Amino acid sequence: MFKNKGFMITVGVLFIALIAGFLTQGGNKGQTTTPKSDTSAVEQEKKVYKVGLLQFVSHPALDQITEGVKAGLKENGFIEGENLEIIFQNGQADQSKLNTMSQQLINEGSEILIGIATPAAQALANQTKKLPIILGAVTDPVGSGLISDMENPGGNITGVSDKAPVLEQLKLAQTLMPDAKKMGILFSSSEDNSKYQVAEAVATAKELGLTVEEFSVPSTNEVSQVVQVMAKKVDFMYIPLDNTIANAMPAVVNEANKLRLPIITSADTMVAEGGLATIGINQFAIGLEAGKMAASVLKGESETATTPVYTFTKGDLILNEKQAKFLNIEIPEKLKETAIMVGGE
Ligand code: TRP
Repeated sequence: MFKNKGFMITVGVLFIALIAGFLTQGGNKGQTTTPKSDTSAVEQEKKVYKVGLLQFVSHPALDQITEGVKAGLKENGFIEGENLEIIFQNGQADQSKLNTMSQQLINEGSEILIGIATPAAQALANQTKKLPIILGAVTDPVGSGLISDMENPGGNITGVSDKAPVLEQLKLAQTLMPDAKKMGILFSSSEDNSKYQVAEAVATAKELGLTVEEFSVPSTNEVSQVVQVMAKKVDFMYIPLDNTIANAMPAVVNEANKLRLPIITSADTMVAEGGLATIGINQFAIGLEAGKMAASVLKGESETATTPVYTFTKGDLILNEKQAKFLNIEIPEKLKETAIMVGGE
């Protein structure tokens, strides 16, 4: 029909431009009618916020926390691909990687940094005293040298602690195993977050009339061997919020099951992987709170220095029924009523 190639191209380009215009208009319409007023305020600026997210290692708990962070940002109007760019790095449990990655996140223009797990948060904190840092699931922010006051952080760091209800966890152990006398604690000697919880668990266990032995591992490589030794010496194993152990959970369960050693964990995810039970804090919820905090700081509604560290007051009772059967442990009906049951080994 048209002999002139140039004309045809022009018509084509115009047509595409028209469609594109139509599509983006439609999109904008949808956004401006969104009822959330704070959302549209952020969008009007047409700014893309850069968030640097550093996760220490991949294990199910930290993966869920990262998902929670994204959801918390989204709930508050920060949407990936629209007004939010998340620069994500995973340190794969390697300290030297964590330092380089922290520097990268800063160099790439992050306006706020989020550290998932203590070693990641520590690496970020070593790189900047200016950029706001949100702690995602740091058990003991004061003891690990990140802030000096939970209520009044004072500097560029605040966030969420996943501190566990240790007393309730050990009481649960005694309810499930009334005859247990000796508890073994499995943790990594290199994690500041575990030191704190181990000290608390030792003191609490003694108060409850249990004897305690500590079993620390230098890295994931030694986990199987140490569990073998422990299984012969104690009545049950207790695991704090330790990343090295969480990362090696399948091996821990494998070895413990050989001698039918029950495992009380500190996180729901570790029960799902073959622990017996815990009273723990939902991992996604931890991330969600951290994401909300980051959003609030990004919007200028709050500042790290004056935002208290968020801690949870209530944990969920999580039981692995399959594992209980395997260990010949009877779960009292009363516990079943309120428990969240998870399966799998
Ligand atoms: N609290 C840990 C830290 O400070 C991180 C963590 C969160 C974790 N959830 C967990 C570790 C579950 C083990 C299992 O580093």
